[in-house]
Amino acid sequence: MKRTLVIVKPDAVERGLVGEVIARFEQRQLRVAAAQFRLIDVATAKRHYAEHEGKPFFDSVVTMLTRSPAMVLVVEGPGETWKVVRTMIGATDPSEAAPGTIRGDLAIDMSQNVIHGSDSADSAQREIAIFFPDLA
Ligand code: PPS
Repeated sequence: MKRTLVIVKPDAVERGLVGEVIARFEQRQLRVAAAQFRLIDVATAKRHYAEHEGKPFFDSVVTMLTRSPAMVLVVEGPGETWKVVRTMIGATDPSEAAPGTIRGDLAIDMSQNVIHGSDSADSAQREIAIFFPDLA
């Protein structure tokens, strides 16, 4: 079983979409291996998005991730789970995300794009270690 990190972001928690998002993973036969409902602090958000430091959107992604509680998940499945999850999530810009994907069905605005999924096996390992050090 391979694992990846998913964050159901504050905008989605505020809209009551946690159950919908988890249901999609479970229906796909992926499993929630760990879950943490938490208000992410600024230092942790900056660590999580460290590769984007200096980019024009950096401050807004940090603000977005820390504005209210998020549901942080470790999702596991056979094969390249990070890739399966990213395919299910859809394009970063929800206005370009295909119908049937999480963003394509549940989001329209880039700054409120509902969910984060690790973008590689290495990122999955690094991000799981940030939020779930006991699992790393
Ligand atoms: S890059 O430069 O191509 O690597 O960046 P990208 O993968 O497109 O985006 C990195 C994360 O920043 C989020 N993002 C934004 N959030 C809010 N507003 C704007 N304008 C914006 N641009 C990018 C994007 O959703 C990615 O976050 P995650 O949490 O991984 O989805």
